[in-house]
Amino acid sequence: MDTIVILDFGSQYTRLIARRIRELQVYCEIWPYHLQGRRLDLPEIKGIILSGSPFSVIDKNAPSLPPQVLASNKPVLGICYGMQLLISSLGGKVVKAQGREYGKAKLTITERGGIFQNLGGEMVCWMSHGDSVKELPDSLLGVARTEDCEYAAVRDQEGKIWGIQFHPEVSHTPFGKEILANFVFGICGSRPEWTPESIIQQQIQWIRNEIKGEKVICALSGGVDSVTAAVLTYRAIGDQLTCIFVNNGLLRKGEPEKVLHNMEKLLGKDRVIYADAQERFLAELKGVLDPEEKRKIIGRVFIEVFEEEAQKLGQATFLLQGTTYPDVIESVSVSGPSARIKTHHNVGGLPEHMNLRVIEPLRFLFKDEVRKLAGQLKVPEDIVWRQPFPGPGLAVRIIGEVTEERLEVLRELDFIINQELKRSPIYKKLWQSFGVLVPVRSVGVMGDERTYRYVGVLRAVMSEDGMTADWSRISYDTLDTIARRVVNEVPGIGRMVYDITSKPPATIEWE
Ligand code: XMP
Repeated sequence: MDTIVILDFGSQYTRLIARRIRELQVYCEIWPYHLQGRRLDLPEIKGIILSGSPFSVIDKNAPSLPPQVLASNKPVLGICYGMQLLISSLGGKVVKAQGREYGKAKLTITERGGIFQNLGGEMVCWMSHGDSVKELPDSLLGVARTEDCEYAAVRDQEGKIWGIQFHPEVSHTPFGKEILANFVFGICGSRPEWTPESIIQQQIQWIRNEIKGEKVICALSGGVDSVTAAVLTYRAIGDQLTCIFVNNGLLRKGEPEKVLHNMEKLLGKDRVIYADAQERFLAELKGVLDPEEKRKIIGRVFIEVFEEEAQKLGQATFLLQGTTYPDVIESVSVSGPSARIKTHHNVGGLPEHMNLRVIEPLRFLFKDEVRKLAGQLKVPEDIVWRQPFPGPGLAVRIIGEVTEERLEVLRELDFIINQELKRSPIYKKLWQSFGVLVPVRSVGVMGDERTYRYVGVLRAVMSEDGMTADWSRISYDTLDTIARRVVNEVPGIGRMVYDITSKPPATIEWE
């Protein structure tokens, strides 16, 4: 399949470039800038994009341009740092600018065509750079400028190597998508082959080749990733797949029943094993207050239960996982793996003696692509649009000890919150919305009596990927309805508060 490679020099926007290219239905991958042994001269690679970077090309330890980029003779587009890197590698001069140019700027295109094909002579673009180009190498010429930046876009004689100082991938550059399309289609000659249907066909073929006649097991959480991975794999190999769904007792109201019902419809009656381990998890969590300790226990018990169930099935060869692209690329960015503030519980840590090979058919897909695929595979809407739910479930939404009584209270709180939010148009814009239980007794009055009940928290945030988040501006009316209903209908809660902290400095979850 025609592929564009994005070399990542550590910019916060690298993933956004990838998403924009894929929105054009062209497959692309993000690679570390130093290639790590990968080859750029493969015939399916139609072009190379060099990302921006937190570095300056003048820095001593700045990431350099691998010689394979120009040696490959493929079309290249350098964005921001990528352009400066091209210019300094080809013999031009980049210097520290007087001040940082940041924000919207008016771009004047002095030579139409190429990446500016079918675009007007002027447009708004988004700038964010501290260095600027002082001298172009002989092989390059300027094709656009802004007031502060003489060389805002450059190209080589052949029209194969391009550089732009601004960021076409952000929405503040209104014609950014057209510029990327001109590069990807006009200059690289890529074909728009990356469609849900083609991905499904390709992955089914790939799964069959990998698995052959072997057995596969899968830990099903009920979220869109694990369900889509399971349905895709089921389409490829049918009954060679068995899914194990562990009920850890930390799920939301009605969730276990819903997952089982949906999966039966998608995979047939006997492809899912239900392991009801609620009591076991609760017993292990008894008296535990520390959040990290809770996470560790839940991770360990999950693995124990999963392994016991898997053993009953006889030896499988593969473990199916719904890993997606953000998990894969996180570790190759130039700024290093982003700091893990909490230990995220993942089934990746199965014991070695289980001797399973991991298969990850979604490892090259972004979340929105997984959702499109799921839609095509007839996965029900409420799974397709299900909000992310943490592995340790409600345990990290009860401050302190987890007990059956507190879980019951939290389930009702969470249910009312989401029932009300689903009536509001804001719901579809939310990354996550849920209840948190603060089991301290706060005073209230009901009738003539004083009450001492728990505090319920509403948490609702908007986010692109969970790395940063903003609290959502829910209408006062909706907030009011939620507070009234919770205090009236959930025995145990006497006061509702709304968490209006963004991430950072807070995290999305309360523990
Ligand atoms: P935080 O709370 O770190 O959450 O801002 C970011 C995203 O990660 C989810 N999250 C977890 N997911 N195991 C998971 O599988 C965990 O231990 C865990 N902790 C947080 C959280 O729901 C949010 O989407």
